[in-house]
Amino acid sequence: MNHKEYIEANKDRFLSELFDLIRIPSISADPKFSGDTKRAANKVAELLKAAGADNVHVEETQGNPVVYGDKIVDPSLPTVLVYGHYDVQPSVPDELWETPAFEPTIRNGNIYARGACDDKGQFFMHIKALETMLQTGELACNVKVMIEGEEEIGSVNLGQYCIANKEKLACDVILISDTAMIANDIPSLDVGLRGLSYVEIEVTGPDIDLHSGTYGGAVANPINVLCTMIASLHDENRHITIDGFYDNVVELNDAERALMAKTPFDLDEFKSSLKIDDVMGEKGFSTIERTGIRPTLDVNGIWGGYIGDGAKTVLPSKAFAKISMRLVPNQSAERITKIFTDHLYKIAPPSVKIKVTPHHGGMPYVTPIDSDEYRAAALAMKESFGKEPVPTRGGGSIPIVALFEEVLGVKTILMGFGLDSDAIHSPNEKFGLFNFFKGIETIPLFYKHYASLKKG
Ligand code: BES
Ligand code: MN
Ligand code: MN
Repeated sequence: MNHKEYIEANKDRFLSELFDLIRIPSISADPKFSGDTKRAANKVAELLKAAGADNVHVEETQGNPVVYGDKIVDPSLPTVLVYGHYDVQPSVPDELWETPAFEPTIRNGNIYARGACDDKGQFFMHIKALETMLQTGELACNVKVMIEGEEEIGSVNLGQYCIANKEKLACDVILISDTAMIANDIPSLDVGLRGLSYVEIEVTGPDIDLHSGTYGGAVANPINVLCTMIASLHDENRHITIDGFYDNVVELNDAERALMAKTPFDLDEFKSSLKIDDVMGEKGFSTIERTGIRPTLDVNGIWGGYIGDGAKTVLPSKAFAKISMRLVPNQSAERITKIFTDHLYKIAPPSVKIKVTPHHGGMPYVTPIDSDEYRAAALAMKESFGKEPVPTRGGGSIPIVALFEEVLGVKTILMGFGLDSDAIHSPNEKFGLFNFFKGIETIPLFYKHYASLKKG
């Protein structure tokens, strides 16, 4: 049996095993679910063992455990380290899901569930690909698998784990399926991830809420002040106004931008899929440049004052906002967080006190395309999709990837099989059955091409 036949013969079982994993609500952001994240880790370990991996362990960290397993077939072969995350985003608002978030359901060719695409459905493809390669005798490389439980909260403990386990994780390349392709008939490979700086602002005016008639107009309103400060962070060209923000940004040259402009992208379809009448972003850059190669600043949440029913006339004591900044090479998350904080203290009027608290962050990453690892991924996709993949720059972040290069000294291949329309982090997240099985089919081809390119 070859790998395609084995996958075909085991389709239903693969799905039912994935569904068992998805049913565990391993939400890392909410400590209420810490029992479930542990259960998910144990489940991943069980799946790895069943697939035929050796040395399977659930390893404790300061936070959620890391699951490790490997299959070393021949020390002279190249070693691939597969990374993924079993933690998921919260499912709220639950009432917007057509079927419950943690009850995977198949509708019109898609698996609907939290984690279906990000990232349970995607790393699970690697476990099934491993099983398949072991059963058909096609495993062409050594494999190490590391699945963590804190990606959605910034991989705060994984860096330490990598440093402590440097020898054990030694490999030639890292392979990750946690990104999207352009379309099912336009395969693509992400060659970039943006970095992230995430901060929370607290603005305090008077120490209690005041009557907005008695005091309004004479005392600083923290919500008004916060809105003014936030509005001032972009100029009329949607350029970020923080001094030094663009200092280390790598600008693409004309040839590189011309190449990027060839990426298949339909602006009208983009707008209609999001139900927006127009796009908005930094002047002088296309939509794919705005999400791929340019840094951004966005308010993710803002609150304060009276938000109950009816009208309560009140001048609030406090206002809050959460802000994310997506970063590109060679911006440093640490430096951006610092200059953002300094800028805010500088622009805050003396009538309020402010506090800026940094959350997790991460560094941007770019994969070179003139390497054996990229060539192997492109050959694998070409073989399974019948088309050469397009290199793309993804807008999202996977904070540990830059650290992998720093600590383990290896490059990462982002071979994701999702779609932007899969609604990751949103209600009704989905993953196409086509994508799931295509992924399992493509992964063994990566191993095959990588091993043969490495042999030279
Ligand atoms: N899988 C995503 C990252 C992603 C999504 C990359 C789409 C490329 C395209 C990942 O799970 C994620 O959501 N990362 C977070 C970062 C984290 C620090 C919370 C993100 O990008 O917001
Ligand atoms: Mn993910
Ligand atoms: Mn995510």
